[in-house]
Amino acid sequence: MGDPDQNSVNWSTLITVAAISIAAALFVLLGVVGELNRSGSNRDDPEFQAAVLENIRPYGWVAITGQSIEEEVVIEVATAEPAAEVMSGPQVYNTACIACHGTGIAGAPATGDVAAWVPRIAQGSALLNEHALQGLQGDTGYMPPKGGRVDLSDEEIIAAVEYIVLKSQ
Ligand code: HEC
Repeated sequence: MGDPDQNSVNWSTLITVAAISIAAALFVLLGVVGELNRSGSNRDDPEFQAAVLENIRPYGWVAITGQSIEEEVVIEVATAEPAAEVMSGPQVYNTACIACHGTGIAGAPATGDVAAWVPRIAQGSALLNEHALQGLQGDTGYMPPKGGRVDLSDEEIIAAVEYIVLKSQ
C-alpha cells in the first residue's frame, strides 16, 4: 500500500481499463446511433417512400368522368347518364317537326319558305312559341301541341321554333 510504484501501476491499469470500456461503449453507441440514423434518413428517401406507397397502394382507383386524378386509372366507372338528354333545336326539328314542316304537309308552312313565314314571324316569338307549345288550329291547317311530341320540354320545342325561324327569314 505504501509503495508508490505499485500505486501508479494500479492507476494506469485502471485508466486503461476505463478508457477501453469508454471506447467500447462509444463504439456500441455510435453503432446504434448510426443504425438509427440510417433508417431515419431512409424515410426521406424518395425510393423508400415510393416503395412504401407501392406496398399500401389500394387495389383500384375509381375514375369519375370529369374529375382528374393523379394516380393511374385501374377501374374506369362512368358517371350515370342523365335520364333524358336535352335535345338541341335542330335535333328536335329533325325528329319532331320535319315531317310536316320539311315540305309543308297539310297546310304547315315549310321551313325556308320565307314568304309563308314573314307574317308568322311578325307576330313575335312569344306567340309563335305559344302556338308551337299549345298547338294551333289556324287558317291553313292544324298544328298539334308540341308537334305531337308532348314528351319534349318547352325549352326543346322553343329551340326548334328558333331553328325554324332562323332557316325561314
Ligand atoms: C302534324 C304536322 C305538324 C307537325 C309534326 C309540326 N307542325 Fe308546326 N305547324 C303545322 C301546321 C299545319 C301549322 C300551320 C297552322 C296554321 O297556321 O293554320 C304549323 C305551324 C307552326 C308554327 C307557326 C305558328 C304560328 O303562330 O303561325 C310554328 C312556330 C310551328 N308550327 C312549330 C312547330 C315545331 C317547333 C314543331 C316540332 C316540334 C312542329 N311545328 C311540328 C303542322 C305541324
